[in-house]
Amino acid sequence: MVAISHRDATMTRQLSRADRLIHQFDTVLRTLVPHAAQPSRPSPATDIVDEPMNEAEREHAVGLMRINHTGEVCAQALYQGQGLTAKLADMREQMEQAAQEEIDHLAWCDARLQELHGHTSVLNPVFYAASFGLGAVAGAVGDRVSLGFVAATEEQVGKHLDDHLRQMPAGDRRSRKILEQMREDEAHHERWALEAGGARFPLPVKLGMRLMSKVMTKSVYRI
Ligand SMILES: [Fe+2]
Ligand SMILES: [Fe+2]
Repeated sequence: MVAISHRDATMTRQLSRADRLIHQFDTVLRTLVPHAAQPSRPSPATDIVDEPMNEAEREHAVGLMRINHTGEVCAQALYQGQGLTAKLADMREQMEQAAQEEIDHLAWCDARLQELHGHTSVLNPVFYAASFGLGAVAGAVGDRVSLGFVAATEEQVGKHLDDHLRQMPAGDRRSRKILEQMREDEAHHERWALEAGGARFPLPVKLGMRLMSKVMTKSVYRI
């Protein structure tokens, strides 16, 4: 009787590990394959009408939205990596909710890029892998660091979004509306991570993260 229970428990463990692996793989595909992500909320751009834009403005809007899309790929990878190694169960639930909101952002940016006749970045797999690794390491170090990493990343993303809202051509009202909602969500993620006990990272770490994001934005704007 005891032996059967033990075997059942082992099988259940193995199954749930296999389930998690399949889920991980499914998320990787949904993140990296264009148009595969399904949003849980409709795009904020629904019912918003653009003003006319010239070709240079359209191209600039495409470059900016491509950066935002890759940022969301990184966010997705970061949460996935942390989900693999983070310890606290109650944190896992909130992380999954934040990750779902990042899927909305990913899908909205993807759809907007399509509308603007742009494409997602060819560098996305590289940035996905790097962010996944960073997330997994942060999760393994401990929850305070892990949450601190979320907070610092969201702070960085918020600054980008402010900058993009300033730069976005006036006629691109649909992109602007998407970025405004993302800005609100990211601020919420940052607040949650700090309130849940996330460490405030020292300036040198933040500067390092800023440098990395500069490399990302410069390259992704073009390809
Ligand atoms: Fe996001
Ligand atoms: Fe976020």
